Amino acid sequence: MDSMDRPVTWSAPGKVIICGEHFVVYGVTAIAAALDKRAYCTVSPRDDSVIRISSKQVGAAEWRDGELVKESSKGVGNRLNAYHKMVSAILASHDRRKGVNVVIDSQIPRALGLGSSASIAVATAGALLDLLNVSFEPDDLAQHALIAESEVHYRPSGIDPAVTTLGGIIRFKRGVKPVRLEPPAPLELLVIETGKTKRTSEMVRKVAQFRELHIGIFDKLMELVDVVSQEVELAILNNRLERLGSLLTVNHNVLRIIGVSTPELDDVVDASISSGAYGAKLTGGGGGGTVIAVASSQNLKRIYEVLQRSYSVRRVRLPQEGVRRESSPVIV
Ligand code: PMV
Repeated sequence: MDSMDRPVTWSAPGKVIICGEHFVVYGVTAIAAALDKRAYCTVSPRDDSVIRISSKQVGAAEWRDGELVKESSKGVGNRLNAYHKMVSAILASHDRRKGVNVVIDSQIPRALGLGSSASIAVATAGALLDLLNVSFEPDDLAQHALIAESEVHYRPSGIDPAVTTLGGIIRFKRGVKPVRLEPPAPLELLVIETGKTKRTSEMVRKVAQFRELHIGIFDKLMELVDVVSQEVELAILNNRLERLGSLLTVNHNVLRIIGVSTPELDDVVDASISSGAYGAKLTGGGGGGTVIAVASSQNLKRIYEVLQRSYSVRRVRLPQEGVRRESSPVIV
């Protein structure tokens, strides 16, 4: 059997940004980590030129020669178009005229700042390049995924595709090769979802407006967040959890200043700290979404149980694996 005949499945993890979101768009260093929830994607060849993308969570749509020709319900084509653009760009760059079927199953909740779109894009790029028998480096996947991210986000920094590709905990700065940080012991985070969703692009635009209005203040905040990121890296590498937690709270307060927090996010941060966490912050785009908190290993279980009474909370052990090939296909 030709290797192009068999379906190929890859998966990639969701992510949290430990510090530096939004400022990373303007060149500040940020730290991010891969999560335990993953997006799975199976790609198989077709005999015609149709690209069919179906997602267990969203629905299915088909494109022929760049035109949307079918969708399972109105708006699905629009929601999956970013992945279609990336798939057709990859096929065109390898001179492949026939289409493919792409099947997606994502465990990562959408629009909660957990990087679901980047994970789907990275898993899809991996499966497609593998199907085409093309050899590639992790950075190639992150670059392809940026095509999809540019459709979903406004001015994406590239941090989401980078961390979902590499896995673990990474230091990321625009235009610089990301570096994986190796903590001496596993690091456990509390990931607390508010359940409120928000489009990252809207929040990135909001920050651009704040910056225009207060350029001098924004420049100073950038310097401050750069120091936060340097200190977060040291705290992770030296397993200084109390220091790490307190740095998260500092970062949260800067994110409040630039207008991306909400009363719900502030409440979750306050509830985490008053139940004993060393510190907490919103993670990702903000405007809703998710909070991360750090606590001592002795207190973690108790804080988890307290927060669980009011919120959807998970304990996540870092590091987690990045993009990888899977042995079983996604069935939708
Ligand atoms: O995808 P989200 O919501 O986790 O946001 C990504 C982080 C931002 O800094 C807000 C945007 C970016 O591209 O860096």
